[in-house]
Amino acid sequence: MRLVHVVGARPNLMKLGPVYRAIANVSNVKQSVVHTGQHYDFNMSDVFFQELGLHAPDINLQVGSASHAKQTAEIMVRFESILLDFRPDLVLVYGDVNSTIAAALVSSKLGRRVAHVEAGLRSFDRSMPEEINRLLTDQLADLLFTPSEDANQNLAKEGVAAKRIYLVGNVMIDTLVRMLPVCQQHVLPDLPSRFALVTLHRPSNVDDLKWLNDMLQALGQMASELTVLFPVHPRTRQRIIALGNGWPSSLRLMDPQPYLTFLALQQRAAVVITDSGGIQEETTYLGVPCLTVRENTERPITVSVGTNTLVGRDPKRIRQEMEKIINGHGKRGQVPPLWDGHAADRISEIIRTNLD
Ligand code: UD1
Repeated sequence: MRLVHVVGARPNLMKLGPVYRAIANVSNVKQSVVHTGQHYDFNMSDVFFQELGLHAPDINLQVGSASHAKQTAEIMVRFESILLDFRPDLVLVYGDVNSTIAAALVSSKLGRRVAHVEAGLRSFDRSMPEEINRLLTDQLADLLFTPSEDANQNLAKEGVAAKRIYLVGNVMIDTLVRMLPVCQQHVLPDLPSRFALVTLHRPSNVDDLKWLNDMLQALGQMASELTVLFPVHPRTRQRIIALGNGWPSSLRLMDPQPYLTFLALQQRAAVVITDSGGIQEETTYLGVPCLTVRENTERPITVSVGTNTLVGRDPKRIRQEMEKIINGHGKRGQVPPLWDGHAADRISEIIRTNLD
């Protein structure tokens, strides 16, 4: 049996790791990893392969950055010839990035079976490119692996046949569980005793320079009460440079951090402020209060069960919620069902029985 995993962007890599490892234990399976090259900086891609103990991708399509149409189309063209050559029994795609939908579309048109890891999540906000990628990928996939019950309900409402849907839990948490002991050796040396950790990269937050500036000012004000550490995504860095030197010097801007260093930072943070998807889940697992700078989330279980609070685009609300947390009234959540470090084992078993 031949399997191809397709990854492209940073958040795909911690999902690939556990699934690849679990399937490696199944006999008579040959696995290959295709990296689309959507993310290409060392600290957005290679360092994750190193830290997660993954061997380098078998093929890198090297598509790089471009508009959504160009990037998606280029992945499709380059992936098609790989697929014709490999003829896999199953193509596994991850999450909601442009690489996910591009590979799913090419695969299904060539009659290859597709499995979507992290299926069924919905923000119901079609202005997010990821929402479009999720909706379409789930329509194409033959096997849909979901992280939580709400995802199953979304898929059922969209008419996806129940026999294609498998509630397996969260593969990103598999990686977290495995790496938590290891990350203790990756604590940054000059870490303040109490700090807030910030990441922002969504176009809706960083492409609007006025809003970005308002947010940076709000975060700068907090820095008088606790240090604010801000690992900056390349997209955000470009926008901050466009703002000139207007950002508050009290923010500690840093390069994007490797997985293990970032995990150690999350675990020690008093609060995490983010617009990422995966970080909402990781903070929920770690029991660290998370303020999500978005009006909606495709991961509602992190709000209903976990430590996440949606603060929208409102600096006053961010400051209020921060005050609560600083005063010891941060949200205390629970770990959702099946976020137990074994989601990939369940995926591997389902694939084995489906492809036998
Ligand atoms: C992508 C995903 C997003 C995910 C994020 C994680 C889509 C639609 N979006 O957004 O869901 O949360 O990855 O990081 O797929 N750049 C670099 N070096 C890199 C990669 C990007 O400098 O290695 C810069 C380029 O200028 C590029 C910009 O960042 O134009 C945005 O990259 P892109 O892959 O288009 O989307 P992300 O914002 O990273």
